[in-house]
Amino acid sequence: MALATTENTTSLDFGPAVALSCRECGARYDLGPIFACIECFGPLEIAYDFGRVTREQIAEGPTNIWRYRSLLPVPVDVTSKPNMAPGWTKLVKADNLARELGIRSLHVKDDSGNPTHSFKDRVVAMAVEAARNFGFHTLSCSSTGNLAGAVTAAAARAGLDACVFIPADLEEAKIVMASVYGGRLIAIEGTYDDVNRFCSELIGDELGDQWGFANVNLRPYYAEGSKTLAYEIAEQLGWRIPDQIVIPVASGSQLTKIDKAFKELIGLGLVEEKPYKIFAAQAEGCSPVSTAYKAGLDVIRPVKPDTIAKSLAIGNPADGPYVLDIARRTGGAVEDVTDTEIVDAIRLLARTEGIFAETAGGVTVGVLRKLVAAGRLDPDAETVVLNTGDGLKTLDAVAGQARPTAVIRPSLDAFRAVIA
Ligand SMILES: Cc1ncc(COP(=O)(O)O)c(C=O)c1O
Ligand SMILES: [Zn+2]
Repeated sequence: MALATTENTTSLDFGPAVALSCRECGARYDLGPIFACIECFGPLEIAYDFGRVTREQIAEGPTNIWRYRSLLPVPVDVTSKPNMAPGWTKLVKADNLARELGIRSLHVKDDSGNPTHSFKDRVVAMAVEAARNFGFHTLSCSSTGNLAGAVTAAAARAGLDACVFIPADLEEAKIVMASVYGGRLIAIEGTYDDVNRFCSELIGDELGDQWGFANVNLRPYYAEGSKTLAYEIAEQLGWRIPDQIVIPVASGSQLTKIDKAFKELIGLGLVEEKPYKIFAAQAEGCSPVSTAYKAGLDVIRPVKPDTIAKSLAIGNPADGPYVLDIARRTGGAVEDVTDTEIVDAIRLLARTEGIFAETAGGVTVGVLRKLVAAGRLDPDAETVVLNTGDGLKTLDAVAGQARPTAVIRPSLDAFRAVIA
């Protein structure tokens, strides 16, 4: 495992980021391609010296994630470099869905609008900047599908080599997207957890000095990209944090960083301090965090995934314990839904709001629906639900239920017969 070192890294330019700090024991390290604490093996995350950041300053920035560059571990001149410029996706006021579910105020943060059609473009943009800083020539990752496509696309734009790793049984669209941008796509016979373990071995063995694995040795940088979802939601609501938010959980990284970002916005005085509840959503067929939550446990027991929500199929989630902590601390919850409920939710969102979500969006909308029905989510509070990927990537999930109303000859009589 690549542990922390204290080598001199003064030539690096990570903007406001000043150090890596251990989430468990608080030990600090110089910025470097490291991810675990020497003292306690805890995960490292970025520590900042933000200085003064204003709403006006942010508003002058581009309409993509780089408007928040003064809150991210990237150089100030990041906008002048070739990159995918993800973010500033739509926050859709979902009145039809709200009415159907009996909620007063609901928005869908629709991250299918990113360059490779998932929220992963946000985190990969951070990994690209880290790879540039550390002089890595190859960008890599272990992926449940969306990350692989985001990495190969971003590497193509940035002029880096790519070599990405996926479980062999992914959806066809995810395999095609991970391959079409060039680079090498290695499909592993095994689960995502097997793929991830293998990538950690590769880093320990030989590649750690040359390859940047977005979600392994670059994880502290990569993970910060998810903060931009929270910044955007707050800004798009008129610089306000929603009362409650439903977030999908695979490794749990996205959820923990959204919480971190809300706290930063409050700390910097960019939004008014207020309580907010974070609800975590999993698929029943891969629900290690939800299972621990319901059992009142702090420790997460790994599972072998079996669900159509393959993008969320991480059986041993690295940030799982932090998700539990955040859900409990904020007064939220962790809940899961069955594959049938996921498909129903995909169709509900499509039918009510014209948004076609991938299975991860079916998980969040399904969990939202379940929690409202059970009275565990306040129907009168301002609510945001995330859709983190595009339904075109997981067509098979709904293909059997989304067929032509009728197949007819091009004749008026035939048409009248089926439309009557
Ligand atoms: C579409 C989509 N949503 C959500 C997630 C969850 O991300 P995290 O691993 O940060 O929990 C993933 C992870 O692969 C994903 O592909
Ligand atoms: Zn530590």
